[in-house]
Formats: sequence, structure tokens, C-alpha cells
Amino acid sequence: MKHLIDPTDLSVDEIEGILNLALDIIKDKSKYSEACKGKKLATLFFEPSTRTRLSFEAAMMELGGNVLGFSSADSSSATKGESVGDTIRVVGCYADIIAMRHPKEGAPMLGSMVSPVPIINAGDGGHNHPTQTLTDLLTIKREKGDLNNFTIGLCGDLKFGRTVHSLIKALSRYEGIKFILISPKELKVPDYIITEVFEKNNIDYKEVTTMEEVMPELDIIYMTRVQKERFFNEADYVRLKDTYILDKSKLKNAKETLSIMHPLPRVNEISTEIDDDPRAAYFRQALNGKYVRMALMLTLLGVNV
Ligand code: CP
Repeated sequence: MKHLIDPTDLSVDEIEGILNLALDIIKDKSKYSEACKGKKLATLFFEPSTRTRLSFEAAMMELGGNVLGFSSADSSSATKGESVGDTIRVVGCYADIIAMRHPKEGAPMLGSMVSPVPIINAGDGGHNHPTQTLTDLLTIKREKGDLNNFTIGLCGDLKFGRTVHSLIKALSRYEGIKFILISPKELKVPDYIITEVFEKNNIDYKEVTTMEEVMPELDIIYMTRVQKERFFNEADYVRLKDTYILDKSKLKNAKETLSIMHPLPRVNEISTEIDDDPRAAYFRQALNGKYVRMALMLTLLGVNV
């Protein structure tokens, strides 16, 4: 039995297999419409979500399976003091696979240690979001045709943004990727990413504070929201929240082939005037999330079609 807690729990070959399966699902949806008949997905969301929870649920429905679960800690027995471990042991009696989001870093890992069924980390605090990473990789593959040899700018809240941490870990295993980290000094990537990922693997990266100074270099710009819920101090959030706003004027010197990505939800960091630009990939990215989660669940459940 395999869980997905950290993006590197999957080898590059396993990721390739999941992405290719997602592409096959996109090509021939009807072939998979009963693949998970009789299977149940439990979505245990102790933190808010729109895309991750609903795309998981839509994914299982499109595979012919069923879904159960809760969308906030308030409607679960966590409010009565039940531990994550006990919750997982019990839900594992009712479901064949569990997708879990939790505000505490490491909670899905803890769950996986006692779970009788595969656990998927659907986001743990500011730590990891591996299924967003699969979504991002599928999007890059579809938009760019390759997961090697490009320059990606990661912009915004690189300190608390779990999607960025997971994406860096995953992309660092491909060839010829240059990372440009665009953030205010208060929201730089954690030191462990610099030492354990970039420096340890001799990866090309640089840190800058404006998007304008690097825009012409970028093949992909990955915008992120400033993570209000992770700040200790409201005044710091207010001061930093509008540091970066991508609008038409900022794209003046961008490549015609640029891809603009964002895990969503967006607040202010991409102007809606960009939405109709063919380079804006973020809504296509959200759709890719459903297909890649279908492929992931088929893989973890060992269902062959
Ligand atoms: N991208 C993402 O995780 O969105 P949700 O918080 O809406 O699930």
C-alpha cells in the first residue's frame, strides 16, 4: 500500500506514469467511467478548500465511485477531542482511500502511519501540497510539452506557500530547470529549501524582489497568494498582501510563449484583465487537477483499465 504525503514519495518514473494516465483519461474519458465502481473516497478537510476537495470528489464520481467526508473540522468529532490517528483508523473502515487536508504540518504523515487504506496529503499547513504539484506538472507538460529545460519564476509568498515548496522539490529532479524566486525579504523560501534542495543538488536559482527585473527571462511565472491564515500578525499581512500584482503592464517585456500559472485561489495578485490572455493557464490548471487526481487514485488503488 502506498500513500502520497510528500511529492518525492513518487519517483520521477511513477510521476511520468500518473501524468501519462491523466493524458489518456483526457483523451478517452468513457473508458474510465466505471473504473472505481464500488470504491469509496473519503475527503477529510480540516481546513477550507474549493478546488482540491471538489476536484477529488468529481474525480471519484467520474471514475464511477462514491464519496463521503466532511469539509470542516467543526463538523467532525475533532471538536470533541478525537485524534487524527483515531479519525483515520475509523474512516479507513468506511472508505477505500482518504484525501486529507489539515492545518498542522505532518498530520497526514501521522495518519498514514495507522491507516488501513492509502492516504493522500491534500495540504498540510505551510508544508506540502503534493496533489497540487501533480496538477502543476500536468499543466507544465500540457502547456510546454516538456518537464525539462525552462526558467520558472515563483512569485509571492514563498515562505508559507506549500504549493511552492512541493513544486520546487518535484521540479528539482528534472534537467535544466532554473528557479527565480521573487518575494519580499519577509516571505523568502525557508532555509531548508535553499540548503536541502537547491544547494545540495547544485540547482541553478536566484532570489530577487521584483518581477519586472526578470520577466523577459521567464518561460513560466507561478504566482501565489499571500497566505493570510498563516500570519501571526494582521498588520504584516496587510503590509505585504499587495506586493505583487501581475497586470498587462508587467507583461510588456514577457515572452510570447510565457505560461502564467497560479494554484488559486487568487486574491489580488493577478489582475482579471489577464484572464483572457492565451498565456493565462490558471483555469486550465484547475481543470488538470481533476484529471491528475483521477490518475492518482487509480494508481494508489491499483486499478488497471
Ligand atoms: N489550490 C488549492 O489548493 O485550492 P483550494 O484551497 O481551493 O483547495
